[in-house]
Amino acid sequence: MTLDRLFDSGATRPAKAQADRITIKRPDDWHVHLRDGDMLRSVLPFTAAQFARGIIMPNLVPPVTTSAMAAAYRERILAARPDGSDFTPLMTCYLTDTTSADDIERGYRDGIWVAAKLYPAGATTNAHFGVTSIAGLAPVLQRMEKIGMKLLVHGEATDPAVDIFDREADFMEKELLPLLKRHPGLKVVVEHATTAETLDIVRAHKDHAAATLTPHHLIINRTSIFQGGLRPHLYCLPVAKRERHRLALRAAATSGDPCFFIGTDTAPHTRSNKERECCSAGVFGGATALQTYVQVFDEEGALDRFEAFASLNGARFYGLPVNTGTITLQRRAGTMPPAVSVGDDEVVVFRGGETLPWSIEAVQP
Ligand code: DOR
Ligand code: ZN
Repeated sequence: MTLDRLFDSGATRPAKAQADRITIKRPDDWHVHLRDGDMLRSVLPFTAAQFARGIIMPNLVPPVTTSAMAAAYRERILAARPDGSDFTPLMTCYLTDTTSADDIERGYRDGIWVAAKLYPAGATTNAHFGVTSIAGLAPVLQRMEKIGMKLLVHGEATDPAVDIFDREADFMEKELLPLLKRHPGLKVVVEHATTAETLDIVRAHKDHAAATLTPHHLIINRTSIFQGGLRPHLYCLPVAKRERHRLALRAAATSGDPCFFIGTDTAPHTRSNKERECCSAGVFGGATALQTYVQVFDEEGALDRFEAFASLNGARFYGLPVNTGTITLQRRAGTMPPAVSVGDDEVVVFRGGETLPWSIEAVQP
C-alpha cells in the first residue's frame, strides 16, 4: 500500500494553473545524515544527485567532536562521491558538555566546520554524548555568537516522563526560548520543526532564527505511523505530530518566508535495524526529497515560491553564496526503487516504489 492511498495530502487545491516544468537554482540540503562506510557509499549518490551542498550531521559512532575528526570525515565523503559529482559537504561539530570554545573557534576559522549541532543528551540516535546542560554551554555559545558560527538544534526534551508527542513543545518553552533570549546575536537553526507553535517561535525570532522542514513531515502525520499496522519506516524523531501541525508545516514551507528552508533529515538505517523489536528512528528521504517537496508546492499552488525555499533562504541564512547551476523538475510520473542495497542489507526508501508525479529532469552544474 502506498502513502498516497494511505493518506490524502489534505492540500487546498490551487485555483490557478501550475506550471508543468520548473527550473531553479541548484538547491542545498541543510540537514543530512550520510553515515559512514557502506552506508555512506550507498546513500551519498542520491543526495549528490539532488543537492549541490549538504550540512552533514555529526552523530556518527563515535561522534564528530573534533576538527580533526570532521576533516577526516569530510575526506571520506569526498572520496565516496560518484564520478563527476561536485557535491560539497559542509561539516558540523557535535557539541558535548566538554566542548571548548577555543576548539570551536579554531575549527571555524580554519574552515573545517560551519556550524555546531546541539543534541540534548539522549534525545535521539547517537545522542548519548550530547549536552546535559544547555546553560552550561554558555561560554561556547557566546563564542559562536561572537564569530558568527551557526547553532543547529535538535529541539526535544529528554525527560522520559514527557509524552513523546509533547517533547518538542516542552523543549521550545523551557530551553529554546531562554536560549534565544540569552544569545540574541546567535544564529540558530531549529532543525526538523514539527509543530505549529515551533513555527510561530521561529517567525517571532527570524532576525536570528530559522527552521528546516523535512519532506516526510510535510506528507505524514502521526496517524500515518499506525495506518494499517505499525510502520517502522515512518518512525523518526521528532515523531510526526497531529494533522493540524502537518498543515501548518506545509503553509510555512510554501509561504516564501525566508526563515524556512530545506533540511531533509534523511536518516538511513538498515532494514534489519528498522524492522526489529526496538526500531531505530529515522526516515531515508534523500532519494525522493525534491520530488516530494515540489509536489507539496504544486499541491499548495506555490511553485513560484519553491526556489526560495529550496535554493535561496538557506544560503542567505548561512551567509553562503547561492549556487550558480540550476536544476529542472518536470511534472512527469516517476518511481524510485523501494529499497537500496547496503552491504548485504538494504535501506527502505521513503515513498520508494510509489508513483511520484514530479521527476528530476536535468541538473546544469
Ligand atoms: O529520526 C531521526 N534520525 N532523528 C534524529 O534526530 C537523528 C536521526 C538519525 O541519525 O538516525
Ligand atoms: Zn537529523
